[in-house]
Amino acid sequence: MSKHEVLEKNVGLLLLCMVLAVSIGGLTQIVPLFFQDVANKPVEGMKPYTALELEGRDIYIKEGCVGCHSQMIRPFRAETERYGHYSVAGESVWDHPFLWGSKRTGPDLARVGARYSDEWHRAHLYNPRNVVPESVMPAYPWLVQNKLDGKHTAAKLQAMRSLGVPYSDEDIAGAREAVAGKTEMDALVAYLQSLGTAIKSKR
Ligand code: HEC
Repeated sequence: MSKHEVLEKNVGLLLLCMVLAVSIGGLTQIVPLFFQDVANKPVEGMKPYTALELEGRDIYIKEGCVGCHSQMIRPFRAETERYGHYSVAGESVWDHPFLWGSKRTGPDLARVGARYSDEWHRAHLYNPRNVVPESVMPAYPWLVQNKLDGKHTAAKLQAMRSLGVPYSDEDIAGAREAVAGKTEMDALVAYLQSLGTAIKSKR
């Protein structure tokens, strides 16, 4: 029996060798990224989310917005014409976890920041049909009622800092006060308005 026949006739060994071969292929693509500035360094001028924006991001996660909206503009003409500059890795280095998403029932939101007014977002989130009559996006009217108490905000900033987001001691000390009494709507709109603004959109 040739050596290769031994391999082909032994499922366990074959599986092991397949896993090894695939991991080597994967690792040679993934490992170098950990050491490349383009994937590790924040883009110039990027600021960490404010306490209110970070709370808004958590509401975005809680409400499942990522199930219908991506935050990843691909480098194709059709995308950059519609959404603006394609997404770069340096914009996501402080996002834990990142919210690139993979489903676009609605438009990509990677550069939605500063595209509409705060009032537009409020009206839209309260009931999307208010501003886009044909919209199939769900309404989120409770966002204007739910208030943030800020109990965990400082801990959230602290957790982000331990992952490398450059928050100062003052940022953390003032976090609770920065969000206390604001509504979930305030926080979510602040978050949306921050998206993609480090790189200027073409529109
Ligand atoms: C069931 C799918 C669905 C979910 C869930 C959803 N959306 Fe949407 N969203 C859409 C669709 C479809 C549109 C396009 C029509 C419109 O503007 O309302 C849209 C549009 C938008 C727009 C306008 C984008 C633009 O460039 O015009 C924003 C901002 C937005 N959604 C934010 C959110 C946020 C924040 C959440 C979570 C609270 C959310 N969406 C949840 C489907 C969804």
